[in-house]
Amino acid sequence: MNPFPFKSVLTLLLSGTLAMGSAHLAFADDDDDDDERGREKSGWFDSRETLAPVVNATYSEECGACHMAYQPGLLPPQAWAQIMTPDALANHYGDDASLSEALRTEISAFLGANATDVAQQMAPSGASNAGAASGSLPRITESTDFKREHDEIPARLVTGNPEVGSFSQCNACHRKAAEGNYDERWIDIPGHGPWKD
Ligand code: HEC
Ligand code: HEC
Repeated sequence: MNPFPFKSVLTLLLSGTLAMGSAHLAFADDDDDDDERGREKSGWFDSRETLAPVVNATYSEECGACHMAYQPGLLPPQAWAQIMTPDALANHYGDDASLSEALRTEISAFLGANATDVAQQMAPSGASNAGAASGSLPRITESTDFKREHDEIPARLVTGNPEVGSFSQCNACHRKAAEGNYDERWIDIPGHGPWKD
Protein backbone atom coordinates (compact mmCIF):
# COMPACT_ATOMS: atom_id res chain seq x y z
CA MET A 1 0.00 0.00 0.00
CA ASN A 2 1.19 3.48 -0.78
CA PRO A 3 1.43 5.42 2.47
CA PHE A 4 1.59 8.73 0.64
CA PRO A 5 -2.12 9.65 0.62
CA PHE A 6 -2.33 8.91 4.32
CA LYS A 7 0.66 11.12 4.96
CA SER A 8 -0.81 14.04 3.03
CA VAL A 9 -4.04 13.72 4.95
CA LEU A 10 -2.01 13.86 8.14
CA THR A 11 -0.10 16.91 6.88
CA LEU A 12 -3.36 18.56 5.96
CA LEU A 13 -4.87 17.80 9.34
CA LEU A 14 -1.78 19.04 11.11
CA SER A 15 -1.53 22.31 9.18
CA GLY A 16 -5.24 22.77 9.62
CA THR A 17 -4.86 22.42 13.35
CA LEU A 18 -1.95 24.86 13.40
CA ALA A 19 -3.89 27.36 11.32
CA MET A 20 -6.80 27.05 13.68
CA GLY A 21 -4.44 27.51 16.56
CA SER A 22 -3.07 30.77 15.22
CA ALA A 23 -6.52 31.93 14.22
CA HIS A 24 -7.60 31.32 17.76
CA LEU A 25 -4.67 33.32 19.08
CA ALA A 26 -5.54 36.18 16.74
CA PHE A 27 -9.13 36.15 17.97
CA ALA A 28 -7.95 36.10 21.55
CA ASP A 29 -5.94 39.28 20.91
CA ASP A 30 -8.94 40.99 19.35
CA ASP A 31 -11.05 40.06 22.32
CA ASP A 32 -8.57 41.70 24.65
CA ASP A 33 -8.75 44.91 22.65
CA ASP A 34 -12.53 44.81 22.69
CA ASP A 35 -12.53 44.35 26.44
CA GLU A 36 -10.31 47.38 26.87
CA ARG A 37 -12.51 49.48 24.66
CA GLY A 38 -15.57 48.21 26.49
CA ARG A 39 -14.16 49.32 29.81
CA GLU A 40 -13.36 52.84 28.62
CA LYS A 41 -16.46 53.57 26.61
CA SER A 42 -20.08 53.08 27.47
CA GLY A 43 -21.24 52.33 23.93
CA TRP A 44 -21.17 53.23 20.29
CA PHE A 45 -21.97 56.89 20.86
CA ASP A 46 -18.71 57.23 22.73
CA SER A 47 -16.73 54.86 20.56
CA ARG A 48 -16.31 57.37 17.72
CA GLU A 49 -16.51 54.53 15.29
CA THR A 50 -18.10 54.68 11.87
CA LEU A 51 -21.36 52.76 11.72
CA ALA A 52 -21.87 50.27 8.94
CA PRO A 53 -23.59 52.20 6.14
CA VAL A 54 -27.08 51.21 5.04
CA VAL A 55 -26.89 48.78 2.14
CA ASN A 56 -30.49 47.65 1.78
CA ALA A 57 -32.17 49.45 -1.15
CA THR A 58 -35.70 48.66 0.05
CA TYR A 59 -34.96 50.09 3.47
CA SER A 60 -33.29 53.22 2.05
CA GLU A 61 -36.23 53.86 -0.23
CA GLU A 62 -39.08 53.19 2.21
CA CYS A 63 -37.50 54.52 5.38
CA GLY A 64 -35.42 57.32 3.90
CA ALA A 65 -38.27 59.35 2.42
CA CYS A 66 -39.10 61.62 5.38
CA HIS A 67 -35.78 61.51 7.26
CA MET A 68 -32.45 59.82 6.61
CA ALA A 69 -32.50 56.04 6.67
CA TYR A 70 -31.04 55.65 10.16
CA GLN A 71 -28.27 53.06 10.41
CA PRO A 72 -29.75 49.92 11.97
CA GLY A 73 -26.87 49.99 14.48
CA LEU A 74 -28.35 53.11 16.11
CA LEU A 75 -31.00 51.07 17.95
CA PRO A 76 -31.14 47.65 19.60
CA PRO A 77 -33.21 44.91 17.93
CA GLN A 78 -36.16 45.13 20.32
CA ALA A 79 -36.56 48.84 19.57
CA TRP A 80 -36.72 48.19 15.82
CA ALA A 81 -39.22 45.39 16.43
CA GLN A 82 -41.45 47.84 18.34
CA ILE A 83 -41.21 50.42 15.56
CA MET A 84 -41.95 47.87 12.82
CA THR A 85 -45.28 46.44 14.02
CA PRO A 86 -48.22 47.30 11.69
CA ASP A 87 -49.87 49.41 14.42
CA ALA A 88 -46.71 51.34 15.17
CA LEU A 89 -46.10 52.04 11.47
CA ALA A 90 -49.62 53.41 11.09
CA ASN A 91 -48.95 55.75 14.05
CA HIS A 92 -45.33 56.57 13.36
CA TYR A 93 -44.30 59.55 15.51
CA GLY A 94 -47.37 61.40 14.29
CA ASP A 95 -47.08 60.19 10.69
CA ASP A 96 -48.40 57.21 8.75
CA ALA A 97 -45.52 55.03 7.57
CA SER A 98 -47.58 51.93 6.81
CA LEU A 99 -46.05 49.31 4.53
CA SER A 100 -47.29 46.28 2.63
CA GLU A 101 -46.77 43.07 4.56
CA ALA A 102 -44.03 41.99 2.13
CA LEU A 103 -42.04 45.20 2.58
CA ARG A 104 -42.61 45.22 6.32
CA THR A 105 -41.25 41.68 6.63
CA GLU A 106 -38.22 42.41 4.45
CA ILE A 107 -37.29 45.62 6.27
CA SER A 108 -37.90 44.10 9.72
CA ALA A 109 -35.53 41.27 8.90
CA PHE A 110 -32.86 43.69 7.67
CA LEU A 111 -33.16 45.89 10.76
CA GLY A 112 -33.19 42.95 13.15
CA ALA A 113 -30.09 41.42 11.60
CA ASN A 114 -28.12 44.68 11.64
CA ALA A 115 -29.28 46.27 14.89
CA THR A 116 -26.87 47.16 17.69
CA ASP A 117 -25.37 43.94 18.90
CA VAL A 118 -25.70 43.05 22.54
CA ALA A 119 -22.04 43.75 23.31
CA GLN A 120 -22.35 47.31 22.00
CA GLN A 121 -25.75 48.00 23.42
CA MET A 122 -26.32 51.35 25.00
CA ALA A 123 -26.81 51.83 28.71
CA PRO A 124 -29.97 50.15 30.12
CA SER A 125 -31.57 53.55 30.53
CA GLY A 126 -30.89 54.16 26.84
CA ALA A 127 -32.86 53.90 23.64
CA SER A 128 -34.39 50.50 24.33
CA ASN A 129 -36.32 51.76 27.34
CA ALA A 130 -36.82 55.38 26.45
CA GLY A 131 -39.99 54.72 24.49
CA ALA A 132 -41.36 51.97 26.65
CA ALA A 133 -41.26 54.21 29.71
CA SER A 134 -43.29 56.98 28.13
CA GLY A 135 -45.64 54.60 26.32
CA SER A 136 -44.47 55.88 22.93
CA LEU A 137 -42.10 54.56 20.29
CA PRO A 138 -38.40 54.31 21.07
CA ARG A 139 -36.17 57.05 19.75
CA ILE A 140 -32.47 57.29 19.05
CA THR A 141 -32.71 60.92 20.17
CA GLU A 142 -34.19 59.95 23.56
CA SER A 143 -31.33 57.69 24.59
CA THR A 144 -29.08 58.74 27.43
CA ASP A 145 -26.03 58.56 25.19
CA PHE A 146 -27.60 60.74 22.54
CA LYS A 147 -28.69 63.35 25.05
CA ARG A 148 -25.27 63.47 26.65
CA GLU A 149 -23.62 64.15 23.29
CA HIS A 150 -26.13 66.84 22.32
CA ASP A 151 -27.06 68.60 25.55
CA GLU A 152 -24.95 71.70 24.88
CA ILE A 153 -26.61 72.56 21.58
CA PRO A 154 -29.11 75.41 22.05
CA ALA A 155 -32.69 74.86 20.80
CA ARG A 156 -32.46 77.82 18.44
CA LEU A 157 -30.01 75.80 16.34
CA VAL A 158 -32.31 72.76 16.30
CA THR A 159 -36.09 73.15 16.67
CA GLY A 160 -35.73 76.89 16.13
CA ASN A 161 -33.69 76.32 12.98
CA PRO A 162 -35.81 75.88 9.83
CA GLU A 163 -32.94 74.05 8.12
CA VAL A 164 -32.79 71.44 10.91
CA GLY A 165 -36.22 71.15 12.55
CA SER A 166 -35.39 68.46 15.08
CA PHE A 167 -32.60 66.24 16.32
CA SER A 168 -34.11 63.43 14.24
CA GLN A 169 -32.57 65.08 11.15
CA CYS A 170 -29.06 63.80 11.86
CA ASN A 171 -27.85 64.60 8.36
CA ALA A 172 -28.76 68.29 8.66
CA CYS A 173 -25.74 68.74 10.96
CA HIS A 174 -23.67 65.60 10.44
CA ARG A 175 -22.51 65.97 6.85
CA LYS A 176 -21.45 62.33 6.60
CA ALA A 177 -24.34 60.83 8.56
CA ALA A 178 -25.51 58.87 5.53
CA GLU A 179 -22.13 57.12 5.50
CA GLY A 180 -22.44 56.31 9.20
CA ASN A 181 -19.74 58.84 10.08
CA TYR A 182 -20.72 61.13 12.96
CA ASP A 183 -17.21 62.31 13.73
CA GLU A 184 -17.10 65.89 15.02
CA ARG A 185 -14.90 66.89 12.07
CA TRP A 186 -17.90 66.56 9.78
CA ILE A 187 -20.38 68.56 11.84
CA ASP A 188 -21.69 71.69 10.13
CA ILE A 189 -24.82 73.13 11.73
CA PRO A 190 -26.82 75.19 9.20
CA GLY A 191 -26.51 78.88 10.03
CA HIS A 192 -23.84 78.16 12.63
CA GLY A 193 -21.06 76.12 11.09
CA PRO A 194 -18.67 73.68 12.72
CA TRP A 195 -19.03 72.87 16.40
CA LYS A 196 -16.30 73.89 18.84
CA ASP A 197 -16.75 73.02 22.47
C1 HEC B 1 -44.23 59.51 6.05
C2 HEC B 1 -42.93 59.90 6.59
C3 HEC B 1 -42.11 58.84 7.28
C4 HEC B 1 -41.72 57.62 6.79
C5 HEC B 1 -42.04 56.99 5.45
C6 HEC B 1 -40.89 57.02 7.83
N1 HEC B 1 -40.76 57.87 8.90
FE1 HEC B 1 -39.66 57.54 10.56
N2 HEC B 1 -40.26 59.33 11.32
C7 HEC B 1 -41.11 60.21 10.68
C8 HEC B 1 -41.32 61.38 11.53
C9 HEC B 1 -42.19 62.58 11.21
C10 HEC B 1 -40.55 61.16 12.69
C11 HEC B 1 -40.40 62.10 13.88
C12 HEC B 1 -39.33 63.11 13.56
C13 HEC B 1 -39.22 64.21 14.57
O1 HEC B 1 -39.59 64.02 15.74
O2 HEC B 1 -38.71 65.28 14.19
C14 HEC B 1 -39.90 59.86 12.52
C15 HEC B 1 -39.04 59.30 13.44
C16 HEC B 1 -38.42 58.08 13.31
C17 HEC B 1 -37.52 57.50 14.28
C18 HEC B 1 -37.09 58.14 15.59
C19 HEC B 1 -35.99 59.15 15.32
C20 HEC B 1 -35.51 59.79 16.61
O3 HEC B 1 -35.94 60.92 16.90
O4 HEC B 1 -34.73 59.15 17.33
C21 HEC B 1 -37.14 56.28 13.81
C22 HEC B 1 -36.19 55.31 14.47
C23 HEC B 1 -37.80 56.10 12.53
N3 HEC B 1 -38.56 57.22 12.25
C24 HEC B 1 -37.69 54.96 11.75
C25 HEC B 1 -38.36 54.79 10.53
C26 HEC B 1 -38.39 53.54 9.81
C27 HEC B 1 -37.70 52.27 10.22
C28 HEC B 1 -39.12 53.77 8.67
C29 HEC B 1 -39.48 52.77 7.58
C30 HEC B 1 -40.29 51.66 7.98
C31 HEC B 1 -39.58 55.15 8.72
N4 HEC B 1 -39.11 55.73 9.86
C32 HEC B 1 -40.35 55.77 7.74
C33 HEC B 1 -41.66 60.07 9.43
C34 HEC B 1 -41.50 58.99 8.60
C1 HEC C 1 -28.48 70.33 15.40
C2 HEC C 1 -27.40 69.57 14.84
C3 HEC C 1 -27.32 68.07 15.15
C4 HEC C 1 -28.26 67.10 14.86
C5 HEC C 1 -29.59 67.26 14.18
C6 HEC C 1 -27.67 65.84 15.32
N1 HEC C 1 -26.45 66.06 15.87
FE1 HEC C 1 -25.16 64.66 16.58
N2 HEC C 1 -23.89 66.13 17.21
C7 HEC C 1 -24.05 67.47 16.97
C8 HEC C 1 -22.98 68.20 17.62
C9 HEC C 1 -22.79 69.72 17.61
C10 HEC C 1 -22.17 67.24 18.26
C11 HEC C 1 -20.90 67.48 19.07
C12 HEC C 1 -21.33 67.75 20.49
C13 HEC C 1 -20.17 68.06 21.39
O1 HEC C 1 -19.04 67.74 21.08
O2 HEC C 1 -20.42 68.63 22.46
C14 HEC C 1 -22.76 65.93 17.95
C15 HEC C 1 -22.23 64.73 18.36
C16 HEC C 1 -22.68 63.49 17.94
C17 HEC C 1 -22.02 62.24 18.16
C18 HEC C 1 -20.68 62.08 18.87
C19 HEC C 1 -19.59 62.31 17.83
C20 HEC C 1 -18.20 62.27 18.39
O3 HEC C 1 -17.25 62.20 17.58
O4 HEC C 1 -18.03 62.33 19.60
C21 HEC C 1 -22.78 61.26 17.60
C22 HEC C 1 -22.46 59.79 17.56
C23 HEC C 1 -23.95 61.89 17.03
N3 HEC C 1 -23.85 63.25 17.25
C24 HEC C 1 -24.98 61.23 16.40
C25 HEC C 1 -26.15 61.84 15.95
C26 HEC C 1 -27.30 61.13 15.41
C27 HEC C 1 -27.37 59.62 15.25
C28 HEC C 1 -28.23 62.07 15.10
C29 HEC C 1 -29.62 61.84 14.57
C30 HEC C 1 -30.47 60.88 15.27
C31 HEC C 1 -27.66 63.37 15.41
N4 HEC C 1 -26.40 63.20 15.94
C32 HEC C 1 -28.28 64.60 15.20
C33 HEC C 1 -25.06 68.06 16.25
C34 HEC C 1 -26.20 67.42 15.79
